[in-house]
Amino acid sequence: MQRVESEVDLDQILITEDEILGCLARMGKQITADYDGKDLLLVGVLKGAVMVMADLARAIDRHVEMDWMAVSSYGSGTKSSGVVRILKDLDTDVAGRDVLIVEDVVDTGLTLSWLVANLRSRGPSSVRIASLLRKPDAMQMEIDVDYVGFDIPNSFVVGYGLDYGERYRNLRCIATLGEQAHE
Ligand code: PRP
Repeated sequence: MQRVESEVDLDQILITEDEILGCLARMGKQITADYDGKDLLLVGVLKGAVMVMADLARAIDRHVEMDWMAVSSYGSGTKSSGVVRILKDLDTDVAGRDVLIVEDVVDTGLTLSWLVANLRSRGPSSVRIASLLRKPDAMQMEIDVDYVGFDIPNSFVVGYGLDYGERYRNLRCIATLGEQAHE
């Protein structure tokens, strides 16, 4: 396993690197088929979606453009605040475009439901969502995630873009944190 300085904090590996890459390969194939003849714009949500974007985009066998948004959804620590602010907006005009939001995790759904409404107000042809992870038990907003990698339990997970205090994003797998590592 990849060594990370603070791996002593990790509890257990939930999803291995091979499982992640296999899943994104299948998702990319499906997206390639579904967007045949369309003008696809991938919108990654910083920072967590960086790894998903890199591997999903390369699994899509057609022209895509990529753009990024940064929004704040968490106040501090590990709880969703429900407050969403744009920290960095798109560089691209999405009017008439087929937009696919790329996320690492849909947790409460608050960020995504806000983001979908915000992007829809800009006049795109379509807005859909692809997320590597979804936590069904944490959902507070009904939200359709069009492409889901894995449904996972409502526990705090890190790795493959997901952080705790900005650490662990560079872990190749998805893992749970030990109790002592997050309160
Ligand atoms: C995470 C994740 C989503 C959001 C999901 O981002 O990338 O954007 O939380 O949570 P929700 O469904 O409860 O709204 P976070 O705010 O942790 O920022 P980061 O991607 O920079 O780590």
